[in-house]
Amino acid sequence: MVALEPVLKKAYWTLASLGGVYAIFIIALLNPWIQHHALYAHKIHSGFWHDLNKPESFGFARNQVTPFNLSTPDGETLYCWHILPVDAYAAHEREIARAPAGPSDDFSTTIGYKLLRADPESHIVINFHGNAGHLAQGWRTSTYSSLASLPHTHTLACDYRGFGFSTGRPSEPGILTDGIALTHYALTSLAHPASRTVLLGQSLGTSVAAGVALHFSAPSTLDLPLSITRPAEALPPQSFAGIVLVATFPSLPELLTSYRIRGVVPVLAPLRPYPKIGKFVEKWIVDTWPTAARLTALVAAAKEGKLGLRLSVLHARDDPDIDWKLGEKVFEAMQKEMLRDGQVAQVEERRSVVGVERVSRGAFVYRAVEDVVVGVADEEGAEGKRGRFVELEVVRYGGHNRVVTYTPVLLAVKRAFASV
Ligand SMILES: *[C@@H]1O[C@H](CO)[C@@H](O)[C@H](O)[C@H]1NC(C)=O
Repeated sequence: MVALEPVLKKAYWTLASLGGVYAIFIIALLNPWIQHHALYAHKIHSGFWHDLNKPESFGFARNQVTPFNLSTPDGETLYCWHILPVDAYAAHEREIARAPAGPSDDFSTTIGYKLLRADPESHIVINFHGNAGHLAQGWRTSTYSSLASLPHTHTLACDYRGFGFSTGRPSEPGILTDGIALTHYALTSLAHPASRTVLLGQSLGTSVAAGVALHFSAPSTLDLPLSITRPAEALPPQSFAGIVLVATFPSLPELLTSYRIRGVVPVLAPLRPYPKIGKFVEKWIVDTWPTAARLTALVAAAKEGKLGLRLSVLHARDDPDIDWKLGEKVFEAMQKEMLRDGQVAQVEERRSVVGVERVSRGAFVYRAVEDVVVGVADEEGAEGKRGRFVELEVVRYGGHNRVVTYTPVLLAVKRAFASV
């Protein structure tokens, strides 16, 4: 036998050791503790050099942000921010600047609460952030600033359990418990109607927003984990002004087969040629976040409960972490449910490779499916009767994270408030 050339030998061993490292990586991920840390990445954050209790250091005006603690029904304490809209701030600037600064144990004693309750036209956006970091990580604060520029629009954002200053450890039922607790707080303690509330999620936060929306639309749904701790007081089915999902994906196993950490490190993609090993590893995924299935249930529940539903899926074409085709898959799951039983109107505009076809919105793909609501002919008299409306907008720019701060997302939120 001819000896391998040294170069080939080196290449062989390099590849073999890469394979070995990858095997160790995958085996380690089978451990639930490591898996939770890898999935939620809640210990990777800048809290060591950023002070979340000094929102001014993130560019907010003095006391524009009120940090406060919120208790969940299962005994965790979530660290949250309330962000005042710029118009309310400008109208009460002196009073706001004189208010005591710093975190509050009880939001209802703060100036932010007072101004929110005093405005009969107030809107709330509940923001659900993605994995890793804390509520002021990366582009998240720019998202709040952007939302604060909308009139009357207050933003609520919390760190899920185990993230930032929040207590506990993250898990799918735990994070859903947190999202439900925050939304329930807005609807009950803040007495803010769902019809003036938008749920906004990005990345993993889209899965949280979807679960929260399903809980409030169909409180007895079987499509949420049974181990969620629900608030003691049950509410009748609610219809939000809108649900805006940015960079979403059908489920975690489906995401992992294409996901690249920071657009570079593949997670399960190398297993694609080995479907048996892939299937085996998938079975070990503890938190599967079946978002497309939950949204399908939401679309069905809205029909059954005669609740209006407005759902916008936005995705950047240049998202390096989550391919926009996964966002389109989520849209298609909901579209299928809408087509199953209803009279619907549809739009599909798609920029082709040759680039001739123009897309009215979203630059790349725009799709929508909508109930044809009988008996609501004139636009002005359409009050009170909202059918179901689901849209997909694939925008050209924004990547995975920054896209939430871009105007198309702001417009989706604004349209949702205007639709009610
Ligand atoms: C909020 O909760 C955390 C965790 O329980 C606690 O350390 C902190 O002191 C609380 N903040 C206030 C203002 O009560």
